[in-house]
Amino acid sequence: MNFNESAKVQKKFNDLIPGGCHTYAKGDDQYPQFMPAYIARGKGCHVWDIDGNEYIEYGMGLRTVTLGHAFEPVVEAARRQMLLGSNFVRPARIELECAEEFLSIIDGAEMVKFCKDGSDATSGAVKLARAFTGRDMVAICGDHPFFSVDDWFIGSTAISAGIPECVKELTVKFRYNDPASVRELFAGYPRKIAGVILEAEKTEPPKDGFLHELQRIAHENGALFILDEMITGFRWHFGGAQKKYGIVPDLSTFGKALANGFALSALAGRRDIMERGGLHHDKERVFLMSTTHGAENHALAAALATMRFYKDNPVIETLYAQGHKLAEGINRASKELSLAEHVSIIGPDCCSVYTTRDEEKKPSQPFRTLFLQETMKRGLLMPSSIVSYSHSDEDIATTVERIAEALVVYRKALNEGIGKYLEGQPVRPVYRKYND
Ligand SMILES: Cc1ncc(COP(=O)(O)O)c(C=O)c1O
Repeated sequence: MNFNESAKVQKKFNDLIPGGCHTYAKGDDQYPQFMPAYIARGKGCHVWDIDGNEYIEYGMGLRTVTLGHAFEPVVEAARRQMLLGSNFVRPARIELECAEEFLSIIDGAEMVKFCKDGSDATSGAVKLARAFTGRDMVAICGDHPFFSVDDWFIGSTAISAGIPECVKELTVKFRYNDPASVRELFAGYPRKIAGVILEAEKTEPPKDGFLHELQRIAHENGALFILDEMITGFRWHFGGAQKKYGIVPDLSTFGKALANGFALSALAGRRDIMERGGLHHDKERVFLMSTTHGAENHALAAALATMRFYKDNPVIETLYAQGHKLAEGINRASKELSLAEHVSIIGPDCCSVYTTRDEEKKPSQPFRTLFLQETMKRGLLMPSSIVSYSHSDEDIATTVERIAEALVVYRKALNEGIGKYLEGQPVRPVYRKYND
């Protein structure tokens, strides 16, 4: 395995594109220093970099690709639509078809508006909540890592340059599974908070009916309950985490898996709220998610094909089943090397991540880098342990074998010091103030 071609283009990537890529999560600072691996193509759960190295992938396009890369029925639907044209001055019929299909799947949602990125949808939800309630503040779950590229969220992170203080002050945080922290916010900012936003679940499931309790507290205080289903949608359950946990949010946001990697996001919810962005009401108008490319017709065709494939095939069941096999295999391999408290799979089988803890069992960026380095060397591209419908039993078995080998190195690094095994700078968190 070599990275000669990738190394050749790396400087140019950074000279021409700030950050060397168009999404920070794909950046050089997120992967081992000497393994830049620029991608040439993917098929199913396999990807090839521009040096011809092949990997089994466990990031699946930042969790957008649940069916598999270049998945034929989706690609074919998008191709057919492209031949009919991709954008017009009046809505294309497919915009309605896609809305009908989506609303038939997401129970309780009465209207939907499509856009390109998830941030369009979450920021649209926040704006609607503000307009609907006449309040400026928003309460976000402080244990959830990302809601939007826009100021209302990024202003609450360490990388908040360029965002006015007065905007930062409008976002406050509560803790997941901690209703007292929510009550405290509403008591501290009476009649100021427009809505609460969170993901239904990350690695811990909701405890003691937390989602319902949060919704109850929000409503009691005149605020909206917004569920961000960017990751959970089309993964936890066909009807989203809201279906799995039996809750109907006022507004919910989707993206990622909705069109199997094609750019499409959605904001859905109650008619009386959503209609504020419409033409048939007498309240002040909300400029809601209106972008030139929002209804790109072939992305809608890809979404329709994706949703229909889910209807006809056991996609969700497969995600859970394959994720479970992967988790079992990795946890077993880790246990055999007495690494269970260092490397373990956490979170639901349909969307798990792994821990990389150091000698003191603390989360460690150097050990994460070592894990990435040793798995990449063995043909695994594994920023997380996300499976797709295309991960076969054979892929999983091969992965577990390779990870067992990588963990031998991890064990040695714990015993002998990581300096002896790590071949470059450790990865660093995206949310940091300076590059240092
Ligand atoms: C939970 C969640 N919400 C919102 C977003 C924003 O989506 P996008 O990057 O498509 O704007 C993301 C992206 O990772 C996300 O994970």
